[in-house]
Amino acid sequence: MAEFKHVTVLLKEAVAGLNVQPTGTYVDATLGGGGHTQAILQQLVDGHLYSFDQDQTAIDYNKEHLKTAIEQQKLTLIEDNFRNLKAELDSYNVKHVNGILYDLGVSSPQFDDAKRGFSYQHDAPLDMRMNQEQKLSAMEVVNEWSYERLVKILYRYGEEKFAKSIARKIEQRRKIAPIKTTFELVDVIKEGIPAAARRHGGHPAKKSFQAIRIAVNDELGALEESLEQALDLLDVGGRISVITFQSLEDRLVKTMFREKTSLSGDVPQGLPVIPAGMEPNFKLINKKPIVASDEELAANHRAHSAKLRIIEKIREGK
Ligand SMILES: C[S@@+](CC[C@H](N)C(=O)[O-])C[C@H]1O[C@@H](n2cnc3c(N)ncnc32)[C@H](O)[C@@H]1O
Repeated sequence: MAEFKHVTVLLKEAVAGLNVQPTGTYVDATLGGGGHTQAILQQLVDGHLYSFDQDQTAIDYNKEHLKTAIEQQKLTLIEDNFRNLKAELDSYNVKHVNGILYDLGVSSPQFDDAKRGFSYQHDAPLDMRMNQEQKLSAMEVVNEWSYERLVKILYRYGEEKFAKSIARKIEQRRKIAPIKTTFELVDVIKEGIPAAARRHGGHPAKKSFQAIRIAVNDELGALEESLEQALDLLDVGGRISVITFQSLEDRLVKTMFREKTSLSGDVPQGLPVIPAGMEPNFKLINKKPIVASDEELAANHRAHSAKLRIIEKIREGK
């Protein structure tokens, strides 16, 4: 099988953040090329790791690559969306875990494989599905979603200020003929952005492609659902490490973690001691997100947008 070239971001930091217990039960929610999975496995003696990916390519590659750990019954690979975390673990009779890691977004092989249609730099049929079995693809989003729905995703998921004029151009173009390829879509997006605005900033299609990818894979919905379950599955002392690559994901993680680590609104202000049962059940390990070192930044361009947040369950409860 071809090499799976994905340079793992924040490898040491994210795994150290889990504070791995050699006999514990762990989850890698985003297996990809298996970088974090291998680092966790190295620290397990009698523990077990369940690694998820919804992309069959990642599962197939690691079935071969991590064969020994699978045979030693240290590792189980699960081909599913991490939004089904609890149900999948339940099917293995796992009710509690000691740590869960998320390294979000797409892997380099997904991005670099032209035919997956993730990149505005390769010409390919519109696709962008992480799970190749899924029905919804970028083809349907671009050609069938209403103008209003397109504006909404371009604004919300791409933070694209020209959302309306891009959505209008998409609507006009697809009336003539369906928009079938990434390069056709790039052309339409460019038409929706004034020439002066196109001259600075990144690639003109970057924000729109990000928005469509998030919509196709329901990335924020899946993350929120999964994190709720993950927080619930943790044993006391257990931790979750999340690496995000864009501001919307980071904001979601930050907000959910803040809610879990703050006093509830029912606690009166200024009490010298917080009454038992009213303290938060979680604590933040790092107040500010951990970012890549200068060394990692110089070696890996993807690391520039990476932010790591870690939370720990400190007492029973939600
Ligand atoms: C950035 S890569 C992970 C790389 C990995 N940590 C490594 O070291 O090689 C993200 C992976 O997560 C998978 N993924 C993203 N969202 C997912 C979801 N909701 N459910 C399951 N897998 C998902 C993608 O298919 C991709 O393979």
